[in-house]
Amino acid sequence: MINLISQTRVRHLLDTENLTKNQFDLIFSKANYYKENRESNQTGSFPDKTIGFLFYEPSTRTKGSFIQASQRLGLRVLDFSPNNSSIAKGESLLDTAKNLVSLGVNTIVLRNKQSGSPFFLSNHLDIPIISAGDGMHAHPTQSLIDAFTILTHFDTLENKKIAIIGDIRHSRVARSNIYTFLKLGAKVTLVGPPTFLPEKISEFGVSTSTDVESILDSDIIMPLRIQKERQLYGYIPSCAEYFEYFGIKQEHLQKVKANALIMHPGPINRGIEISSSVADCDKSVILEQAENGVFIRMAIISILLGGEEDE
Ligand code: CP
Repeated sequence: MINLISQTRVRHLLDTENLTKNQFDLIFSKANYYKENRESNQTGSFPDKTIGFLFYEPSTRTKGSFIQASQRLGLRVLDFSPNNSSIAKGESLLDTAKNLVSLGVNTIVLRNKQSGSPFFLSNHLDIPIISAGDGMHAHPTQSLIDAFTILTHFDTLENKKIAIIGDIRHSRVARSNIYTFLKLGAKVTLVGPPTFLPEKISEFGVSTSTDVESILDSDIIMPLRIQKERQLYGYIPSCAEYFEYFGIKQEHLQKVKANALIMHPGPINRGIEISSSVADCDKSVILEQAENGVFIRMAIISILLGGEEDE
């Protein structure tokens, strides 16, 4: 899959799967620059460029931080999401995207329920495509945010124990995070009921557990939302029973490492995968993840539109 670099020199961000260590370092270094200079970089570097948003699914964090990032970089923002464009009249993804290019859009940020749709667009358009999450496949910018947030608390991900708990089967964040965390040297354990753990997932190089107590020696504890909108079958008896057996609660907080981080890509469902006391505790960096989204997305847009060398 095409990533930050392609043979045609039109570059995209479709997943973290094929990012090199140098590319991760470049993204984190630029994000860190934007974070440290957040008060002084308001004027923007790209006043002659336009970014187009195509969000076919709801979003708070991703869209909000892409808008913030774009405006801080000085980009013009055009929003062509379904409820405010001719997508509502039946226009296809590709026709819509081609029209955006005709209107002068220089890069497209796409969120779509179809896995692979950003890759499809990247094969048809000569502008950078940035995935903002596609179906159950990938959420590369969220994964970069999660790794960047960990690096603001620990110097490295090398040998860090990361537990991802919950609906792994339907989670694009889990998939991208497995690639990112393993590439950066972490040890990943996926925890959940067997119905939420995809068959053969251990072939990716991760451990699996059906016992929530296995999270207790982790450095990072990341519960995930149950993605009811992507579920074809009843994978769990009830949300109440899920919370009983797999929800991260105060009783776990009392037993985790002193410097452990509680993370969640959002949106959170309190009382299902995480209790309020855990979501709001002093180990929780959930809102830091949201804040870092602006800086990571500034870095990605800047690299893709700026034509920087990144190998
Ligand atoms: N993490 C995430 O993708 O959140 P949103 O759906 O609010 O963008």
